[in-house]
Amino acid sequence: MSEFAYTQRDFTRIRELIRKRAGIALAEAKRDMAYGRLTRLLRAGGHRSVADYLDTLERSGGTDDWQQFVNALTTNLTSFFREAHHFETLARHLRRSGAPPRQRIWCSAASTGEEAWSLAITACEAFDRLDPPVEILATDIDTACLERAGRAIYPVARIEDLSATRRKRFFQRGTGSNAGQARVLPALQRLVRFAPCNLLDARWPVQGQFDAVFCRNVMIYFDKPTQLRLLGRMVPLLHDDGLFFAGHSESFFHATEIVRSCGRSVYAPARSRVGRAA
Ligand SMILES: C[S@@+](CC[C@H](N)C(=O)[O-])C[C@H]1O[C@@H](n2cnc3c(N)ncnc32)[C@H](O)[C@@H]1O
Repeated sequence: MSEFAYTQRDFTRIRELIRKRAGIALAEAKRDMAYGRLTRLLRAGGHRSVADYLDTLERSGGTDDWQQFVNALTTNLTSFFREAHHFETLARHLRRSGAPPRQRIWCSAASTGEEAWSLAITACEAFDRLDPPVEILATDIDTACLERAGRAIYPVARIEDLSATRRKRFFQRGTGSNAGQARVLPALQRLVRFAPCNLLDARWPVQGQFDAVFCRNVMIYFDKPTQLRLLGRMVPLLHDDGLFFAGHSESFFHATEIVRSCGRSVYAPARSRVGRAA
C-alpha cells in the first residue's frame, strides 16, 4: 500500500498544474513517477494525502512551494558532452570567419550545468586559451539544479568519460574530505552565468543577440504548439549566422518558416544564408 492516498484525479490535477506552470506535458505513464517525486514534499509538509498537498498548494502555496513542485517534476538527465557532435559543430562555428569579437551562447535548459561547462570547454579549446572571447548564459526553470550547477562540483564518476586531457586541463580533483569530487576550473566558471528562466514566461532574462542557442532535450516535454511558439521566439534572438541546437529526438523540419536544417539536429534561422547552396 502507498504511504499517501493517491487517485487518478490527483494525477490529473498534477498534470494540469505542471502543464500550466512549466509547459510540461506529463504522459499518462508517468503517474507513479509523479507520486514518487512528490512524496518528499508531502512528508516535509505533513500532508495526509496527495489531494491534501494539492489543495494546500493551490489554496495558499507561495512562490517557494510552487518552485519546489516544479523542481520535483522536472527531469534533469544530462551529462558532459552529451551528443558530442554538437560540440564539434560549435567549435567550428566559433572559429567561423566574420564572427563577432565576443560571442554569446544561450544554454536554455542547463539542468545541473554539465552542458554549460561542456560549452565553456569547447570555447577554450576552439580558441586554445582559458579566456576565450565567449560568454555563456545558462538558464533552467529548476532552481535546485541551477544551485548545483553553480557549485561546479561533481562526483568524479561524472567526468570519467572525458578524455584525460580534458579532465586534467579543466577540472581540479578534490583531496582529503573532498576526495571523489571534481571541481570545474575557476577560469571556466568565469565564462558562465547561471540564471533561472521558465521558457514559458512571457519575458526571458536574456538580452541582445546570440551566436548559438542550445535548447536540447527540453522541447520533448512540451506539446507541438508550445514547441513552435518557443522556436519562433528563440530563433530571432540569433544573429543571422547563428545556430540553434536541438536534442536528438527534437526535429523542426516542418518549421520551415523559422529554421532550416543545417546538420544533425542543428538549425540556422530560415532568413539566413548559412549552409545554403550559392
Ligand atoms: C532532460 S534535461 C536536459 C538538459 C540538457 N539540456 C541536456 O540536453 O543534457 C531537461 C531540462 O529542461 C528543464 N525544463 C523543463 N521545463 C522547462 C521550462 N519550462 N523552462 C526552462 N527549463 C525547463 C528541466 O528543469 C531540465 O533541467
